[in-house]
Amino acid sequence: MVLEDSLLITGASQLLTLGGRGPRRGDSLSNLGIINDGALLVRDGLIAAVGTRAEVEALPEARAVEKLDLGGRVALPGFVDSHTHLIHAASRAEEYELKIAGASYEEIARKGGGILNSVKKLRAATAESLKKRAAAALKQFAAYGTTTIEAKSGYGLDVASELKILRLHKELAAEHPLEIVSTFLGAHVVPEEYRKKAGGAEQYIKLIEQNLLPEIGEKRLAEFCDVFCDRGAFSVVQAKRILQAGRQWGLAPRLHAEQLSRTGAARLAILMRAASCDHLEHVNKSDIQALGKSETVATLLPGCNFHLGLKQYAPARALIGAGAIVALATDYNPGTSPTLSMPMILSLACTQLRMTPAEAITAATVNAAYSLGREKSIGSLEVGKQADIAVFEVADYREIPYYFGGNLCWMTVKRGRVIHAAEQV
Ligand code: NIG
Ligand code: FE
Repeated sequence: MVLEDSLLITGASQLLTLGGRGPRRGDSLSNLGIINDGALLVRDGLIAAVGTRAEVEALPEARAVEKLDLGGRVALPGFVDSHTHLIHAASRAEEYELKIAGASYEEIARKGGGILNSVKKLRAATAESLKKRAAAALKQFAAYGTTTIEAKSGYGLDVASELKILRLHKELAAEHPLEIVSTFLGAHVVPEEYRKKAGGAEQYIKLIEQNLLPEIGEKRLAEFCDVFCDRGAFSVVQAKRILQAGRQWGLAPRLHAEQLSRTGAARLAILMRAASCDHLEHVNKSDIQALGKSETVATLLPGCNFHLGLKQYAPARALIGAGAIVALATDYNPGTSPTLSMPMILSLACTQLRMTPAEAITAATVNAAYSLGREKSIGSLEVGKQADIAVFEVADYREIPYYFGGNLCWMTVKRGRVIHAAEQV
């Protein structure tokens, strides 16, 4: 009997299950749960069995199902990219040259470039063109082995444009196999039109509280509320108020924290039991200790430092040493990290953050899934979880970050369906 919608996957030289209790801290970041000559049985998009080839093939249900041989490649859970700014209208290549010539990110922002530049471009773009660009990006994410992304609004900064972005998240999620977790980042910066008037920031926060959040909450357009809490963006006091308002509408907090300067945003994230605080280049020793004891994930985004040419990366080793739940993400955005490649982020995590390949893979799967509240369904290859799988053209998992700059992802599977294949199989 051929069971409908079931698939037997064999031939993984290393099957990285990441099985076990998550989230991972300290030494447990290194435990990939590797099965040599591993196999998986998938039924209705979920993992029905996992083990060695001999174990899984011996199961009565494994007979006569559709088969897929990975030919000795390495298989692992699909990457969970827990921080992206998916919807934007265009690149900021013009600023890239200014940065190379020596202008800092903040100098460019002060002159009306930066986020406000992207806001202008997005407001002028049609929903259709934004959707087309984002759909192309989703294909690329899948091509690099990513099966779930978080996506933030934040380049609209008025009611119509922010809602346009959040509705696109929903539409894209319905039409594309990748899972999209929507985050409202209306508090990215104070928009231009509010900067000119006295009390403008206060008025913009009121717009978020009174006009945006009620609509987003009622229509369930986002799961999370994020704030860029930093010099030139929102203060800790403002961030707290916005996150509290978001929570009243059912949106869980997450934060851009300690990226350009130390503001105390990581402390706020911990205090508010935020799902995650992201960036953390400027945390101090006591922040590191506090993160080590908290449930708030420390999401590191080394693509930003690489793209901006900044030397001060987040202190990943100290965070891991303190026991923090470290995750990794691309921060795909046009201003600080225009990459959709999680393998590239793994390479940067290894060489710049001094994480081992195993720690980086755990941070990009199990811990990232936890930061999105999805630890029960994704992030590891265990019975009952979604069959979200990335297969790489390597024989040893360490070669995934080792070979940087290319794309060795051979196949990506989402809920048991092949969504990317490097060659016809
Ligand atoms: O995560 N820091 C704030 N937000 C983005 C950058 C946005 C931009 O420059 O367009 C980030 O780095
Ligand atoms: Fe970001």
